Amino acid sequence: MEKFISKVNRIEGELRVPSDKSISHRSIILTSLADGKSEVRHFLKAGDTLTTLNCYRKLGIRIEESNQVISVYGKGLKGLKEPEDIIDMGNSGTTTRLTMGVLSGQSFFTVMTGDDSLKRRPMGRVAKPLIKMGAKIDGRNNCNNLPLSVRGGNLTGIEFFNEKSSAQVKSALLLAGLYADGKTTVIEPIISRDHTEKMLISMGANITTEIYDTEYRVSIKSVDRLEPIKVDVPADPSSAAFFVAAAVLVKNSHIKLKDVLVNPTRDGFFRKLKEMGADIEYINHRTEGGEMVADIIVKHSHLKGVKVVKEEVPSMVDEIPLLAIVATQAEGETVITGAQELRVKESDRIKAVVNNLRNLGVEVEELEDGMIIKGPQKIKGGTVDSYKDHRIAMGFAILGLIAEDGIKIKDADCVFISYPEFFKHLEYVSK
Ligand code: S3P
Repeated sequence: MEKFISKVNRIEGELRVPSDKSISHRSIILTSLADGKSEVRHFLKAGDTLTTLNCYRKLGIRIEESNQVISVYGKGLKGLKEPEDIIDMGNSGTTTRLTMGVLSGQSFFTVMTGDDSLKRRPMGRVAKPLIKMGAKIDGRNNCNNLPLSVRGGNLTGIEFFNEKSSAQVKSALLLAGLYADGKTTVIEPIISRDHTEKMLISMGANITTEIYDTEYRVSIKSVDRLEPIKVDVPADPSSAAFFVAAAVLVKNSHIKLKDVLVNPTRDGFFRKLKEMGADIEYINHRTEGGEMVADIIVKHSHLKGVKVVKEEVPSMVDEIPLLAIVATQAEGETVITGAQELRVKESDRIKAVVNNLRNLGVEVEELEDGMIIKGPQKIKGGTVDSYKDHRIAMGFAILGLIAEDGIKIKDADCVFISYPEFFKHLEYVSK
């Protein structure tokens, strides 16, 4: 599907963007391991999270959907069953990597595959430490790519330095740690999103976290059982980010985004925009189910260029392409570094942003680990490629709102991965 986004006068209204993708994944994966029925409200129904739902059904878990509530009938830590066929993980890195951790604790055999993008993404970062813990894992390119097989074993806890601060790697090891003899510790130079720890704590796992100036440590020991829980998933800050950016960029805009997750491991993009001069306010700040939530009020703002350094990347890792897009309208230079991880996301997001901006006539310098953009630059318009990456498609749709002749996005249907209602919502707030 191609989608054309034309220039608008202003962005206005109130939205509750879809629920958080990371928490939705975990609300199925973790509760599948609990003893009994858990309930999930506001579960995100989108491509990636439906992949997780399907995967755990194939692993023998009864999951029912009714009246906006998903009921997960967890069968305990050892209750999963060997799937009858290869499991298709679609486009979802989170499903794959977290499930590799879970499967490392199961004595049966599982094979996973995925779409072309997922088959290119590195899995060795999870496979290697899991093999060290005792799992039997095999796969293409020396266990680095799908298809990949896992046969769990008797695991032993390890201490692992999570150099890239990848939440998927950390989560996989903590999940395997539920089955390991002894203690499993993950050390991060910069804390990555901590939803797995938070949810495991609420389920009665034996887990401790310590935050120091230079590192974050999380340790887990096995337990006999996990308690079922009730989860209410807040709105996804990574989805809200597109509308925050839209309101900031388009003159005379004013928008309210409701129930947004503002966990400090996730709201780096909003903080960075404030640093650039954006008028963004959190109101009705509260804690729900152990997570920080707020409504966000955003108004059109004059922006100045900014620096993004390595330490800031984890809390805004999925929003960096959007930040680069916004930076085209900021006064002065924006320098993004330390974001090498973007090259191994659903697409090479540095290349995707640089190529598309250049196709639109925007000057941008590509760095190995980021990019440099000088603003403000006029956007005339043209055609861009989504690279079948949901966040690239949505990011350039936002730029379309201020492009003189609008922007046409190729393969725009990939927004289904995290935000099926995206174009409908964009139309709703576009005036
Ligand atoms: C995620 C972690 C991040 C993020 C991804 C979701 C998660 O990936 O980019 O969209 O839910 O744990 P990495 O763990 O590779 O940093």
